[in-house]
Amino acid sequence: MADTQGPRTATLTIDGESYELPLLTPTAGPDVIDIRKLYGQAGVFTYDPGFTSTAACDSTITFIDGGQGELLHRGYPIDQLAEKSHFLEVCYILLYGELPSAAELEDFEHRVTMHTMIHEQMNNLFRGFRRDAHPMAVMVGVVGAMSAFYHDSTDINDPWQREVASIRLIAKMPTIAAWAYKYTIGQPFVYPRNDLDYASNFLHMCFSVPAEEYQVNPILARAMDRIFTLHADHEQNASTSTVRLASSSGANPFACIAAGIACLWGPAHGGANQACLEMLREIGTPNRIPEYIERAKDRDDPFRLMGFGHRVYKNFDPRAKVMKQSADEVLELLGIEHNPTLQVAKQLEAAALADPYFAEKKLFPNVDFYSGIILEAMGFPTSMFTPIFALSRTVGWVSQWKEQLADPQLKIGRPRQLYLGEVMRDYVDIEDR
Ligand code: SDX
Repeated sequence: MADTQGPRTATLTIDGESYELPLLTPTAGPDVIDIRKLYGQAGVFTYDPGFTSTAACDSTITFIDGGQGELLHRGYPIDQLAEKSHFLEVCYILLYGELPSAAELEDFEHRVTMHTMIHEQMNNLFRGFRRDAHPMAVMVGVVGAMSAFYHDSTDINDPWQREVASIRLIAKMPTIAAWAYKYTIGQPFVYPRNDLDYASNFLHMCFSVPAEEYQVNPILARAMDRIFTLHADHEQNASTSTVRLASSSGANPFACIAAGIACLWGPAHGGANQACLEMLREIGTPNRIPEYIERAKDRDDPFRLMGFGHRVYKNFDPRAKVMKQSADEVLELLGIEHNPTLQVAKQLEAAALADPYFAEKKLFPNVDFYSGIILEAMGFPTSMFTPIFALSRTVGWVSQWKEQLADPQLKIGRPRQLYLGEVMRDYVDIEDR
């Protein structure tokens, strides 16, 4: 232990020269070699494309143990939060670090509720898109444009403005996502209601129409809230790292979150839930599963099982377990437990987990494998799956953004490279070539 034998170090030897690098001890997870002075001491870079072995920051927000399939938010296990808490309380925990008292939670939920409307003039932004625009394109644009409407919460050096921007983003994301959906289906925007909870408000803004009353089904609202909770934060994933890097330049919070939304859109990341459901539909029937399993194993075939595998989890993604339980509950409630897509999903999961290839590569279902099935059963088109992921992950991005800005060591992120291009050479005039 560091305190009994003095500071721990790692020794790096290059061409007979040795360098002592501090070894940093976490509260959980692997030790970290501090290489901040390496280039200055040894004149070398480290090389880690994809950052598979690189800690880009320190954080106290979320911990993942990929081998154990464990996910903690401020120390609280995700399965306990999914079972016992609700999304806005999880937002509080991620933002402020502790379980709120009843009064603190009531105040927080009131502050979020009071910020759910967006500036009326932002209505016009949606109309600048084609009706067949992907809702993620709309979200990237509208969230980035918040920088042009909320000037009183863009100064990142003012703690109060950082707090207001955080609440505004968490509060307004459901409205923006719902309106992006309504715009693409040609229905009128539905304004948020202060008498509804966060998840019910989102369902109401998505599925109600002015022509008739809409009653939110409380079981669907609970499932929606649980999906929000399961997607809230996930350590230094690609989109969160994008938000941190954007923020390191001093960019305003709305621009940073828009960058996170853009990164999340990719099918290898947040776009996997849409890609997974489209894959399940393409497979269509259980008898076609072996064909797709073989394609996923074929290194010459770019096809991969969407919703499977994870950079960190080399065991079950704990969120997938909870999501699978919710899928069963929602489909049973809707009387579609025999949903063919769900049947294909369950049989595909069983076939993949029984296949030595997936066991050897430690490929398990991730958070995206079942979420699409629930969202489709709830009435969302596949194009809304990633916007819902973005809506949920906004609290994670904002929490990590706030944490980074409070770090006295904060400096602009500026990685180096392994250069393999041409070395210096002289320009040759065209007549001499
Ligand atoms: C999310 O980082 C996060 O925390 C992300 C996330 C979050 O909450 O923020 O958890 C959300 O993005 C979940 C992941 C959603 N993506 C998908 O479901 C897309 C399908 N999965 C793969 O694209 C892949 O598994 C990744 C991108 C998720 C992880 O990629 P890695 O860690 O870089 O692993 P890899 O691509 O290097 O794969 C290792 C091996 C490879 O085989 P070899 O080259 O070693 O022979 O496993 C194979 C891959 O071919 N492999 C798969 C596979 N995923 C990896 N083979 C078939 N199907 C797959 N899904």
